[in-house]
Amino acid sequence: MSGLVVAMDGPSGSGKSSASRGVARALGLRYLDTGAMYRAVTWWMLQRGVDLEDPAAIAARSAEPALTMTIDPDAPGVAVDGVDVNGPIRGAEVTGAVSAVSAVPEVRRRLVDLQREIIAGSLPDGGIVVEGRDIGTVVAPDAPVKIYLTASAEARALRRTAELEGTSVEAQRAAMARRDTLDSTRKADPLAKAADAVELDTTPLDLDEVIAEVLRIVKERV
Ligand code: DC
Repeated sequence: MSGLVVAMDGPSGSGKSSASRGVARALGLRYLDTGAMYRAVTWWMLQRGVDLEDPAAIAARSAEPALTMTIDPDAPGVAVDGVDVNGPIRGAEVTGAVSAVSAVPEVRRRLVDLQREIIAGSLPDGGIVVEGRDIGTVVAPDAPVKIYLTASAEARALRRTAELEGTSVEAQRAAMARRDTLDSTRKADPLAKAADAVELDTTPLDLDEVIAEVLRIVKERV
């Protein structure tokens, strides 16, 4: 039985996670947060004391962490070697280091393989909404629905500041600009809009409006 794959790409703070979960719930699909996978591998590398300034050191250990993904949109999660890391992967240490780890081709190859396995496994259950940076371009280039979410730098920084404690809009804007530059200029699978993706600017929209708009695009395309 075939299922639906919805690819949701875009920079951080564009509203991808909340929108992707909402769309998955509305359509009765599974939900995969690929950013959580890169964050979990980064957490594992930090725990093991791997030198994150050395891509060869990261590559050498990239096959070791065993990830388990929970793809229920009501309770998504990730465990590494059986340890629930949903809290620590959102912390400042992992957030500051994840771009270095996700730029390493060996890490990407392994996680992309795992992402494709999870997508294939979800199809008999109806399909999946997958969010990340390279879903429409690399992970699932045949996805029938591809959305590229954007938002102004100001709106993205404001959203992130509201989600996190003890940070300022200015600090968030600077941190996001740094991460965007690293994510879009790396050689391996950079953040990019697929040629056949629909671009959606979420700056003036609230979450319900973003979800409604994505559902409209899904209806139109499928
Ligand atoms: O979506 P996020 O902020 O949780 O993603 C964390 C980092 O992981 C982000 O800086 C870039 C990387 N990432 C990636 O390279 N490819 C993906 N498909 C998803 C995330």
